[in-house]
Amino acid sequence: MALLEARGLEVRFGGVVALSGVDITVEGGQVTGLIGPNGAGKTTAFNVICGLQKSAAGRVVLSGRDITQASPHQRARLGIARTFQRLEVFGSLSVYENVLVAAEIRRRWSHDRSRPATVAAETIEMVGLAQLAGVAVDSLSTGTARLVEVARALATRPSVLLLDEPSAGLDESETDDLGRLLTRLGVEGTGILLVEHDVDLVMSVCRTIHVLDFGRILTVGTPGEVRADPLVQAAYLGTAA
Ligand SMILES: Nc1ncnc2c1ncn2[C@@H]1O[C@H](COP(=O)(O)OP(=O)(O)O)[C@@H](O)[C@H]1O
Ligand SMILES: [Mg+2]
Repeated sequence: MALLEARGLEVRFGGVVALSGVDITVEGGQVTGLIGPNGAGKTTAFNVICGLQKSAAGRVVLSGRDITQASPHQRARLGIARTFQRLEVFGSLSVYENVLVAAEIRRRWSHDRSRPATVAAETIEMVGLAQLAGVAVDSLSTGTARLVEVARALATRPSVLLLDEPSAGLDESETDDLGRLLTRLGVEGTGILLVEHDVDLVMSVCRTIHVLDFGRILTVGTPGEVRADPLVQAAYLGTAA
């Protein structure tokens, strides 16, 4: 059984088909990619999975449990965490405070009695921000603020982590660090669904990649298979491959 399965998603905005018959599978313990041109439907798929957008058909199943009708809040409690394409952090709070808020929410939800302060500190260390823990997020670069968002999602200790373009604004070495972090989280058992424009990052960390185009899944395969697929090259990788 897959950790997360979305089946037959259908979303229309007026005349725009944002998703049609979309199936996405996320296995635990690895990074799964979701790529495709701008407007392909990637963020919409995230919104359906975390409950912010209704799908007219299909279902979302988490660890065998149908969560199609669950609220975003219930899904978060069940272990789905996400980051947003547009940053969603508390700018005037410090890095530590931002992550602590998430760790405290988790404490309320779960039977785990770990101290929120400990969880926050460990998570900040994990994403490599320990030196900046006391700094207000407003004064950080966009790239670093993005890592705070990742840390905040991780502080809830999710079983599934959805990341919407986490490398946007990161420099090369920050992107390398992010890639290592994602690989490590995968190894430790978290299921990660990664939406990302940085093709090198996607190819290096994902075991399986789904390619979306105009709201439809074009192909699903290993990085090698996706790279070699003529349809993908035409639709998306053309200039990058
Ligand atoms: N709330 C919305 N209202 C109307 N159209 C939307 C909305 N959200 C997304 N769309 C449209 O749906 C399509 C898919 O968008 P999106 O999921 O954001 O794509 P991606 O994340 O792959 O760039 C695009 O054509 C976009 O303009
Ligand atoms: Mg998007």
